[in-house]
Amino acid sequence: MRLDRFLTQQTRESSRQVRQFLLAGRVRVDGVITRDGSLKMAPMMEVILDDRVLQVGQAKYFMLHKPVGVVSATKDDKHRTVTDLFAAEVRTDLHIAGRLDLNTTGLMLLTNDGRWSRRVTQPETRIPKVYHVQTEDPIEAGYAEVFRQGIHFAYEGLTTLPADLDRLSSHSARLTLFEGRYHQVKRMFGYFDNKVIDLHRERIGGLVLDPKLQPGEYRQLTADEVAMF
Ligand code: URA
Repeated sequence: MRLDRFLTQQTRESSRQVRQFLLAGRVRVDGVITRDGSLKMAPMMEVILDDRVLQVGQAKYFMLHKPVGVVSATKDDKHRTVTDLFAAEVRTDLHIAGRLDLNTTGLMLLTNDGRWSRRVTQPETRIPKVYHVQTEDPIEAGYAEVFRQGIHFAYEGLTTLPADLDRLSSHSARLTLFEGRYHQVKRMFGYFDNKVIDLHRERIGGLVLDPKLQPGEYRQLTADEVAMF
């Protein structure tokens, strides 16, 4: 809903009167004087007219240990979604800050704060995402240099950003990406015809998946964790 309509509903004043409130600088949204009535409202926005709070701002930030078989979406016809894992009273306005494939596990972030999730997911911010990877065939020593140089993705017409590969055993590695392309890890190993058989996201930036969370469990982020992005 637009801000001007919200204000008319809440104050029961005419739209003309509401336009005047806005022009006079009497409306603050999330602490900022806002004159644009066409602003799209989000449920967590704090809206104040003079000293009257019309909507209490309530931002939510969660980390989820995503299990296998759950879709990174808020709605899906076939599968359970990550938001289905949340309590009904919490999940209403949540969205996902960065997807994982159906069979990938690990750290996912969900919020109702669009500005925050954009900071987490924007490619320009180059936030490292760390994955634990298990492969069908041995990981050869030469992979690391190819991943560092970048791999050409013909479909998107781009070359992946330099990625760090740390080989942990013949068939497992820790891979750090600084972007998030579609099926990126699987396609990078696919370059060597090596199938990824297990993929788990351990970390996004400085935020590590809480080891206390079992697959399917979630918890709120602390203020310090929210401030990391
Ligand atoms: N790369 C993939 O291939 N899958 C994921 O889920 C995440 C990164």
